[in-house]
Amino acid sequence: MNFNRRDFVKSTSIITGGLLTTPFLSEASFFNSNSDDTIKIAVIGCGGRGTGAVVQALSTKQNVKLVAMADAFKDRLNQCYENITSDDQAHLKAKINVPEDHKFTGFDAYLKAIPLADVVILTTPPGFRPMHFEAAVNAGKHIFMEKPVATDPAGIQRVLAAAEKAKAKKLNVVVGLQRHYQNSYRELMKRLQDGMVGDIVSASAWWNNDGVWTNPRKPGQTEMDYQMRNWYYFNWLCGDHITEQHIHNIDVINWAKNGYPVRARGTGGREVRKGKDTGEIFDHHLVEFEYADGTILNSQCRHMKGTWAKVDELVVGTKGKIQFDAAKITDHKGNSLYAFDKKNKENQPYQTEHDELFEAIAKGEYKFADAENGAKSTMTSILGRMATYSGQVIEWDKAINSGIDIMPKTLAWDADMPLKPDANGNYPVAIPGKTKYFS
Ligand SMILES: NC(=O)c1ccc[n+]([C@@H]2O[C@H](COP(=O)([O-])OP(=O)(O)OC[C@H]3O[C@@H](n4cnc5c(N)ncnc54)[C@H](O)[C@@H]3O)[C@@H](O)[C@H]2O)c1
Repeated sequence: MNFNRRDFVKSTSIITGGLLTTPFLSEASFFNSNSDDTIKIAVIGCGGRGTGAVVQALSTKQNVKLVAMADAFKDRLNQCYENITSDDQAHLKAKINVPEDHKFTGFDAYLKAIPLADVVILTTPPGFRPMHFEAAVNAGKHIFMEKPVATDPAGIQRVLAAAEKAKAKKLNVVVGLQRHYQNSYRELMKRLQDGMVGDIVSASAWWNNDGVWTNPRKPGQTEMDYQMRNWYYFNWLCGDHITEQHIHNIDVINWAKNGYPVRARGTGGREVRKGKDTGEIFDHHLVEFEYADGTILNSQCRHMKGTWAKVDELVVGTKGKIQFDAAKITDHKGNSLYAFDKKNKENQPYQTEHDELFEAIAKGEYKFADAENGAKSTMTSILGRMATYSGQVIEWDKAINSGIDIMPKTLAWDADMPLKPDANGNYPVAIPGKTKYFS
């Protein structure tokens, strides 16, 4: 874990978002040698991101067709289908062929959709990602999966094990940590690797903004239905916003450090997120992540309306600093060392993820192995959550090997949920100093 800059340059393929420096031929699917070059895709999780990812996959240069859709809820699936087949997306119509018997709903819908495709898009809430990723890898599919890739250490281990299998099978896996596919980040990281800012001495990461939607409880709704419709507020589904959103920024610092923290300590709580329909997640976390060489990442994320907003990352080195959102590098006197031309050279990284993935697949190349980094950056954010929930110093090795598993044992609409609200509709919330992970 204690990398210097030379090691970084040597081993850069480990954590550049999984982009392997040398393309290998994939054993999975050779589209360029077939007369039919159609690449069939299935989407699991037809919400906002699933819809976006389908549009992006279908907008690549390759002959991509959507052949199957899966969602827990029929109304969400239908809404997605309506959106992608609407007149606004008329250019995609010829690329969508999803008959009614290829639209699957319920908790086992993924098992029916995966076999029908060459590439699977995994865009449900992250709690389900380990089981969906494992199934897609076992079925020998190439994968685009959204971040985070799990919500607990048991899920992380499952993803890491499946990631190894994916590598052995040479399945391309892209994870939606899209900064790895963004021109400005790639250019800034290149200069970091080339030594422009010297050795990293500290870093900061922010995801501070207003927060997210709620879906108020409906009469007669089962507890599972309610939690699924409000997945953001429940850790087994979402992982808290430190995992769900702030992972993007934490991941950038892991990328810059070419490693993962060894421990975390921090503070957090619920200042404004109170009352019904606010589940169990905190509204702020402030964490010091410590890397093996002593570098500290100061990370903060907050969901509070009317407060100072910032989504960004900063790396401070011995010779200068990188401000990622501004896409510039300066020395310690403020003199410019490098400025990326955002106006003319920035790309749409969500599209680039798919452009690069489908190009590799069409050529029969094995180029992307993002799952391991996706899992370890997700684990970093879970480490932070464990630190703020408990108020204790949490060690990486202990946490990742803890076997902590917060998924319900039964996935069914009428399941007896482990987490239930009290008579006033409030859920138990972690209390620093009282919540314990280790004795
Ligand atoms: N990379 C990014 O910038 C970015 C942006 C937005 C969302 N995301 C990620 O995409 C994922 C989905 O987010 P979203 O905003 O689309 O949420 P969403 O609620 O709009 O969509 C999630 C969909 O998954 C479905 N679903 C839930 N459980 C399921 C299951 N077990 N099987 C099948 N379908 C299931 C839901 O019914 C819903 O339609 C999250 O992990 C999120 O972090 C990433």
